[in-house]
Amino acid sequence: MSADLIEAAVAAMSKAYAPYSNFSVGAAVRGASGKVYAGCNVENASYPEGCCAETSALSAMVMAGEARVTEVAVAGAGDKLVTPCGGCRQRLREFAADDVAIHICGPQGLRKTVTLGELLPLSFGPDNLDQE
Ligand code: THU
Repeated sequence: MSADLIEAAVAAMSKAYAPYSNFSVGAAVRGASGKVYAGCNVENASYPEGCCAETSALSAMVMAGEARVTEVAVAGAGDKLVTPCGGCRQRLREFAADDVAIHICGPQGLRKTVTLGELLPLSFGPDNLDQE
């Protein structure tokens, strides 16, 4: 069921533009329609202007007219698990509920699955602004 999402995240790694860190990351999000949107990290000579793979994937989803995420996959190499950075946890929170699965992958596929709530407990989200 998650195989297509994981495959998309791993494939997106090879599209990364990461000449400064040489650390390629791919990400894929599944929209409520079931469609998969992928993204890669895009770095910049002005370092802070670079953008994470998760952010690219979310942009592709929004551009396609969707605003709910039901599943996420992130792929990167190395011994350590490549989990979404703090900023991307918050960006995912905008579109995903606490129980949404985040599949952490290496180049060979799935390594560990966690939920967004585990990565970003007691989060601040759109519902916080829904006050009369
Ligand atoms: N990176 C991501 O794309 N996603 C993450 O969740 C962690 C970090 C990228 C940003 C930068 O281009 C490179 O990995 C090294 O930090």
